[in-house]
Amino acid sequence: MTVNPTGTLYGVGLGPGDPDLVTLKAARILKTAPVIAHFRKKGRAGHAWTIAAPHLNGDASEAAFEYPVTTEIDFREDAYVDAIRDFYTASAQAIMQHLAEGRDVALLCEGDPFFYGSFLHMYDRIRSAYPVRVVPGITGMSGCWTAAAAPITYGDDILMVLPGTLDGAALASHLRTADAAVIMKVGHNIDKIKRALHDAGRAADAIYVERGTMQGERVVPLAELEDCAVPYFSIILLPGGRGRRIA
Ligand SMILES: C[S@@+](CC[C@H](N)C(=O)[O-])C[C@H]1O[C@@H](n2cnc3c(N)ncnc32)[C@H](O)[C@@H]1O
Repeated sequence: MTVNPTGTLYGVGLGPGDPDLVTLKAARILKTAPVIAHFRKKGRAGHAWTIAAPHLNGDASEAAFEYPVTTEIDFREDAYVDAIRDFYTASAQAIMQHLAEGRDVALLCEGDPFFYGSFLHMYDRIRSAYPVRVVPGITGMSGCWTAAAAPITYGDDILMVLPGTLDGAALASHLRTADAAVIMKVGHNIDKIKRALHDAGRAADAIYVERGTMQGERVVPLAELEDCAVPYFSIILLPGGRGRRIA
């Protein structure tokens, strides 16, 4: 009796947005994988899909998993946790069905798969049952500090990466001690983040980057950002280097 080999799940890091920042390895997998899987917001093409599109050959089948909720329910509420848990479990089952039938699956990941990505929920559910390989990507924050021409760490600077979802007091307390910081997941947390930077006395140094390296990129000092809603793909940078530059 011959046993069919199973497929491999590839977590493919796509970099910060510019398709030219996709690695050669990622591009090769995107060209050859029989199934391309990705997460997206309902009714959207999906950021990851848009980044990967120039590298796809059109022959693969697409497995699109649409988030049942994004920001309309607070992520700490039971209703959010239940909906998203069921969604990730169903998505993992759909991926494993392909793997069981011997097809490799490339799961698209913005930035780096091991850095705050939805991929991690698939990794946790699938890795004990099927082979999983991860292709690292340039992180969004790296693309953003390059877009802002803002060297982020000098000498022995300590860089803190803070999710904007933390509460304001926690954000301010971390920001007081950070030499350099990156605040991720800005979106609807923007007002709280601005207050925390102000409370920590760091608002004047902060840089706002929206859609770094993508079409529509915008870089402005945070102090010049008008009061309005900001998109999910935005980040705040607090460059280091204070007192550490060797002239
Ligand atoms: C769930 S995290 C995913 C991070 C991703 N895995 C990475 O390696 O960058 C999403 C957050 O990353 C930040 N981000 C990622 N790419 C970005 C970009 N090109 N421009 C601005 N922010 C970005 C935003 O703060 C966004 O809310």
